[in-house]
Amino acid sequence: MDECKVIIMGFGSVGQGVANALSMKKDLIKDKTGVSVKVVAAADSSSSAISQDGLDEELLVKTKKEEGKLAAYPEFGSDKSGLDVLDAVEYDCLIEATPTNIVDAQPALSLTLKAFEQGKDVVTSNKGHLALKFKEIVGAAEEAGVEFKYEASVGGSMPIINFTRDTLASCEIKSIKGILNGTTNYILSRMTSEGSDYEVILKESQELGIAETDPTQDVEGIDAACKTVILANSLLGIDATYSDVKVEGISNINSQAIELAKKDDYLIKLIAEVSPENLQVSPRLIKRGSSYDVSGTLNMATIKTDLADEVSVIGLGAGSLETASAMLTDLISILKNKN
Ligand code: HSE
Repeated sequence: MDECKVIIMGFGSVGQGVANALSMKKDLIKDKTGVSVKVVAAADSSSSAISQDGLDEELLVKTKKEEGKLAAYPEFGSDKSGLDVLDAVEYDCLIEATPTNIVDAQPALSLTLKAFEQGKDVVTSNKGHLALKFKEIVGAAEEAGVEFKYEASVGGSMPIINFTRDTLASCEIKSIKGILNGTTNYILSRMTSEGSDYEVILKESQELGIAETDPTQDVEGIDAACKTVILANSLLGIDATYSDVKVEGISNINSQAIELAKKDDYLIKLIAEVSPENLQVSPRLIKRGSSYDVSGTLNMATIKTDLADEVSVIGLGAGSLETASAMLTDLISILKNKN
């Protein structure tokens, strides 16, 4: 394979991050894999830009930022969106970055299954379809004989799925415990360090592009619960779905609770636990200075194994380029496998 034609589906913070990262890393990808990557379509929720000859990544981002929709892309703007885009152009890999939907998994579910039916590989940052129908989707990819990669769905740039599968391949994974949501960690860190107001900080995290399109998913623990399901299925082989997770968010945590914890040298963190006995997301007291004491948008996870005991990873759990870094790593891995 000399050339890989990609569609970027979803053009919010993550989709734009992918376009920016691709524009920065095309030469590196070519050097590492021997493959040139060409963006043949990009789509937001109601429009797209489509060209079999390739689109300019920087112009895609500029158009979206300045005009608000990809239909305004010079010459190749289109009113097509969603599934129609997959029929409108020839492509090899779908880069799927639509907003997470934990009610019916759409549009990610239909887009992904259609790409598989068309024999295309898929890289996703989405969590809703995996949290609701992990087994079905992974099974469909296997049946279609295509690659399906989802490192970016958990922890942004924090390596965890590929790292655990590849680097800890000799180990059985017993449990995983950690901080899997950047927005709530940012909110709790700021409330702890400055006593700032919850609503104000939440608004800031939306402006930073780290919160979900619907930020209730972050503060109510829904996002972290989705990630708990993804880790349970992919790394511990637990056949779980979203409804199996006990979820409590941080909306009841006030500054008095944080101050009280601080007096005894504790912090309040939203902790996810993934084990055969317990799938849970809840606010917990953690000791200051412990491995869970990471602040801002950082995520962390301690992976308990049989041979290597405990291994911990830390990384920026949210953000445009950070999440895009995981998606490009998945793309590079697919291209390496092909060649
Ligand atoms: N809203 C998510 C977070 C983005 O704050 O962690 C990354 O999944």
